Amino acid sequence: MPQLLTDKNSNINLKNIKSLIKKYESPFWVYDSDMIHKKINLLKQFDIIRFAQKACSNIHILRIMKKNKVKIDAVSLGEIERALVAGFKPKNNEIIFTADIIDQDTLSKIVDLKIPVNVGSLDMLTQIGKRSPGHHIWIRINPGFGYGHSKKTNTGGENSKHGIWSPDLAIPIIQKYQLKLIGLHMHIGSGVNYTHLKKVCKSMTENAIKLKQKISFISAGGGLPIPYKVNEKPMDVKKYFELWNDSRNKISNFLGQNIQLEIEPGRFLVAESGILISQIRAIKQMGNKNFVLIDAGFNDLMRPTMYGSYHHISIIPKNDRYINEKKTIETVIAGPLCESGDVFTQTNKGDLETRKLPITQVGDYVVFHDTGAYGASMSSNYNTRPLIQEILLEKNHFRTIRRRQTIKELLNLEI
Ligand code: LLP
Repeated sequence: MPQLLTDKNSNINLKNIKSLIKKYESPFWVYDSDMIHKKINLLKQFDIIRFAQKACSNIHILRIMKKNKVKIDAVSLGEIERALVAGFKPKNNEIIFTADIIDQDTLSKIVDLKIPVNVGSLDMLTQIGKRSPGHHIWIRINPGFGYGHSKKTNTGGENSKHGIWSPDLAIPIIQKYQLKLIGLHMHIGSGVNYTHLKKVCKSMTENAIKLKQKISFISAGGGLPIPYKVNEKPMDVKKYFELWNDSRNKISNFLGQNIQLEIEPGRFLVAESGILISQIRAIKQMGNKNFVLIDAGFNDLMRPTMYGSYHHISIIPKNDRYINEKKTIETVIAGPLCESGDVFTQTNKGDLETRKLPITQVGDYVVFHDTGAYGASMSSNYNTRPLIQEILLEKNHFRTIRRRQTIKELLNLEI
């Protein structure tokens, strides 16, 4: 369940947030570094933890990962550059580039720095082979099935563009260019449930045995869910590890060599560390509906509009007024954008939903929980709105890890 602001064990508590609100202009993101450490520790049984930085790519968050021996996944040239700035080195598989296509600039970079590539298409494999014979590669296998919290985050099966469908077709290309196959990778989707994740281990074992290649690594991909709702429970990581460990042992015995087990989560490591703080700027009644309009939009937090995602909401009064959590009103929370889909309470089909929330006033604050993953990293400049500030909380100290973008900076790209 989401960590509530009244939780004394969390750094994201009422007292800290009230001081942040006094100091910074809303809306802004806050991350709690303690929570990130806690989540990393839960995965320590895996040989390698690799952070899928697309979930939260701020350099300072990447540095926390690096300090804790977490390796990094990059899916674009920009993400490779971020990893390098954060201190990751292009050796020891610290950075892996994962993609289904590769452009010329990225190809030059991975060749220059000898960054291993997790390859998702046969064309990409050929392009790397031609340019860089002997390059270290992984194959990302599409196991023929997938799952996700939304259709849009399912990355397996024939409706997905991701991965290689028949990995045996990759072998002649690998041989032709003497590429070095070091690992096999599977990622069936994001926000996956336990049953589906289990199926992947079985498929990995079968594929590794069928391919019979002398690999050194297997990767379980990411996809681990987190409890976004109050009644949801965290997943049993230990049980999940045991299934993968069993798969690793079977492959290792079959090939007669040591295989390292890697996991590649994004959401699991950072989602619960983050919140988005916004302020109520208007409250209006539209027919029978109570609309509360805030200063953050889907240009900031995209998930509810894109997938109908649920984020727990807390209200913080602008003054010392007592908020009676029991006295609620069905509320629609919407943003400032000039688009009617700019609503934080909606289903995955785009239908408006209401949330039982305490009675609010203009000037009160709305906190969206569990926005550390795919929050800031999915923001845009829609409606010419600058990217907002990111703050990192370390115990009771906080510092800006990204300042707010200025409108002038935005316009300068065109002038
Ligand atoms: N590995 C690969 C190859 C991936 O494509 C992804 C996510 C991950 C790892 C990390 O998945 P995670 O552990 O975070 O579930 N924007 C969506 C999620 C899209 C995920 C894309 N790929 C959201 O807001 O839920």
